[in-house]
Amino acid sequence: MPQHHQKVVLIGDGAVGSSYAFAMAQQGIAEELVIVDVAKEQTVGDALDLEDATAWTYNKNVRSGDYEDAKDAELAVITAGAPQKPGETRLDLVDKNLKIMQSIIKPLMASGFDGIILVAANPVDILTMAAQRFSGLPTNRVFGSGTSLDTARLRVNLGKEFGVAPESVDAYILAEHGDSEFANFAEATIGGRPLMDWAAEKGLTEDNLEQILYDTAHKAYEIINRKGATFYGIGTSLARITRAIFRDERAVLPVGAYLDGQYGLNDIYIGTPAIIGANGVESVIETKLTDGELGRFHASAKTLKEVAEGGFA
Ligand code: 2OP
Repeated sequence: MPQHHQKVVLIGDGAVGSSYAFAMAQQGIAEELVIVDVAKEQTVGDALDLEDATAWTYNKNVRSGDYEDAKDAELAVITAGAPQKPGETRLDLVDKNLKIMQSIIKPLMASGFDGIILVAANPVDILTMAAQRFSGLPTNRVFGSGTSLDTARLRVNLGKEFGVAPESVDAYILAEHGDSEFANFAEATIGGRPLMDWAAEKGLTEDNLEQILYDTAHKAYEIINRKGATFYGIGTSLARITRAIFRDERAVLPVGAYLDGQYGLNDIYIGTPAIIGANGVESVIETKLTDGELGRFHASAKTLKEVAEGGFA
């Protein structure tokens, strides 16, 4: 009997891809990680470098490969695409990165791949939709990093504000991974106590909370303006999602999931909490929102739909 074998094919060995590979090697999440990129020499170099890291951590098989390696992989993580330059929004990348997505999905599916696709390239919500359309895989098996990184940033900011660890904060960023995202402040909790009570106790106003949301949504720009790119945060978010899939955790994580009526939205990939397990998105959690938050969700979805229609839909 062949042993159960958990294999990831990482497509895109730029800063995000190699940070993901490093996080995966550090945490020993996969049995095998194959790195694919048009820059083949880069993948060989990265695999050799990561091999050194695994000597001190987990002796997992990290190597350079090709699309044919995807035929028996459970997961394909797609990070390939042009990154944002200072001053660009994520949505500005859509035309370039849709073409790249098309050039990836074709050979990926030609290999016989029949696993889960996790997309991180930007604009992630649009590119996830494209990956699903181009691949024809079921919507639960194609999803995006969505608002996972934004939610991490929100929890870090709220954790600092209230003097608690980020993982103790139960709050979400929803909608577009980008400028139109919003936070579910009204329903968020820390230690089972409403976030609004914590805020009231500290004398924080609605404006203060909006400022926390603004800082969260603009953190990528702060990073990109200083170092040209963001990669450790997203690399670690992708590793966290991978762990939930490979260990069939059924963890509640914010991702870019396909909506089929939830929140009154249809046929769109967008950030929401979902249960993540061996089948990918096991189910979308339709978290409770105020009318105002729901209005923001719909406005964000409208922005994404307009861009998608202009691009490919
Ligand atoms: C980020 O939010 C740029 O989407 C990337 O860090």
